[in-house]
Amino acid sequence: MSHILLYGPPGTGKSTIGRKLARNLKLPFVDLDRDIETKAGMSIAQIMEQQGETAFRDLESAALNETVGHASSVTTSTDKVIALGGGTLLRDENRTVAEASGSVILLMAELLTLLGRMQHDAGKRPLLAGNLKFKLTSLLEKRRDHYNSFPWKIHVDRRNVEQNAHEVQVIVGRYHLSAMGEYDVIVGPVSRLKDFPLQQPIVVTDEHVARFHGEKIRKLLQMAGFTPKIITIPAGEAHKNLETVQALWREFLEHGLDRKSTVIALGGGVISDLAGFAAATYMRGVNWVCVPTTLLSMVDASLGGKTGFDLPQGKNLIGAFYPPKFVLADSELLKTLPQAEFISGMAEVVKHGIISDPELFKLCAQGLDCIRDNLEQVVKRAMSVKIRIIEDDPYEKGFRAALNLGHTVGHAVELASKFELRHGEAIAIGMVVEAKFAERIGIANNGLSDEIAAVLTEIGLPVQIPNNISREEILRAMRVDKKKNAASIRFALPVEIGRVELVDVANLESVL
Ligand SMILES: NC(=O)c1ccc[n+]([C@@H]2O[C@H](COP(=O)([O-])OP(=O)(O)OC[C@H]3O[C@@H](n4cnc5c(N)ncnc54)[C@H](O)[C@@H]3O)[C@@H](O)[C@H]2O)c1
Repeated sequence: MSHILLYGPPGTGKSTIGRKLARNLKLPFVDLDRDIETKAGMSIAQIMEQQGETAFRDLESAALNETVGHASSVTTSTDKVIALGGGTLLRDENRTVAEASGSVILLMAELLTLLGRMQHDAGKRPLLAGNLKFKLTSLLEKRRDHYNSFPWKIHVDRRNVEQNAHEVQVIVGRYHLSAMGEYDVIVGPVSRLKDFPLQQPIVVTDEHVARFHGEKIRKLLQMAGFTPKIITIPAGEAHKNLETVQALWREFLEHGLDRKSTVIALGGGVISDLAGFAAATYMRGVNWVCVPTTLLSMVDASLGGKTGFDLPQGKNLIGAFYPPKFVLADSELLKTLPQAEFISGMAEVVKHGIISDPELFKLCAQGLDCIRDNLEQVVKRAMSVKIRIIEDDPYEKGFRAALNLGHTVGHAVELASKFELRHGEAIAIGMVVEAKFAERIGIANNGLSDEIAAVLTEIGLPVQIPNNISREEILRAMRVDKKKNAASIRFALPVEIGRVELVDVANLESVL
């Protein structure tokens, strides 16, 4: 059970933002004040007037306990978005109950904003009756330390309802995707796996991940009452092929998987691509869930429903759009990831910052130590960028191409290096080359490529094409793509940090 509880001074929009948030996440919404009024059969003002504040607070405690309650039930379907009253958590026991039941997010706003919003409904707020400005100022003053003591806050002033709801989602790390299949994406401890409805789970993982995390997952599933089977395949891209898919199908058959079973992909992008594809095709499709264990798979491969495998002729040539039932990303799992893999995955994080999250880009600029200290936040923000894009364009008909930033040149560099460069390293180089091109054609200000290069360098990623790779080899690799798309290639070019533009380029020489 992991409710989202919105708290804060009166007038901050707890109910409005809460309702929007609940719609976004497809969760039930409870407005605690309205709940109390319905149960009491009278308004809060009347309760206060007739029974006094202590009696109201008692009703509030009871309503809170009932709303968050049912502690024995742990399925996510019982999660709710709850708008609390402005003073609900003044009682210590209420705060303990609320914080134990999920995430409490404090909404804050400037006095002028609050006054503007409450001018017309101050009558409904008995504690503010009379001189609104004076009453509100002293109430905020009295509760200042209390409100300040909540670790998760958002300032609602300069954002609209949609933006505020989205900001709450980024803080709690929870999204609901519906453009291609309906599924939740949750950033949280892997122990939450047991909170989801799973049937006959079978885990697909690779040898490295199994060594570090296999036992933990087995125990978790056993505690949830399953006898989990774990299929371990060799690690690495070299095994993302039809032979491995066939081996998975065979194992599924041997373990008696049927259409009600759930495949759990525990691993990096290779595992989610393979296990997702095997699940998509076995018995015409069984459920699968994704537990990404690399930074790249958390912020990229686990999102968007693409599954598949490589052919000798090229990467990802066979595949299916087949979204998982949910994605559960636990940043703690990244602690065992080799540093080189982590750094490589950071290229995609920086890319997401450049595409539409300047705050994420700024965080990346602080360097690896700071990134590791704020890893969960980094993962949540980077995921949210991709999620917003794939929700708008799930089948890559338009703006999803923005996610190709750095990839047109990057793929060519990766290919020309004969895969000596890691994917992330090649993408880092690609982003800088493409940013320089954007400057040359006048859609980006001079200096943007240097700004991007500085951040990538700080993280430990290369930003220049290695001397042993010729311009000709890169052009040749890019032309392979161009042939598929006739006259030009669509580039996603950075315009400024937080904004990209799609540009069709016919003269590929000009890019380098
Ligand atoms: N489907 C998509 O939308 C999509 C998007 C991007 C990339 N991809 C695919 O993702 C693949 C690359 O993914 P990747 O970079 O995650 O590679 P990967 O799955 O090969 O993992 C990289 C290495 O890290 C190891 N590893 C994984 N998690 C670990 C952990 N927590 N601790 C220790 N070791 C761990 C793995 O065993 C492997 O050796 C490519 O095949 C690419 O095509 C798919």
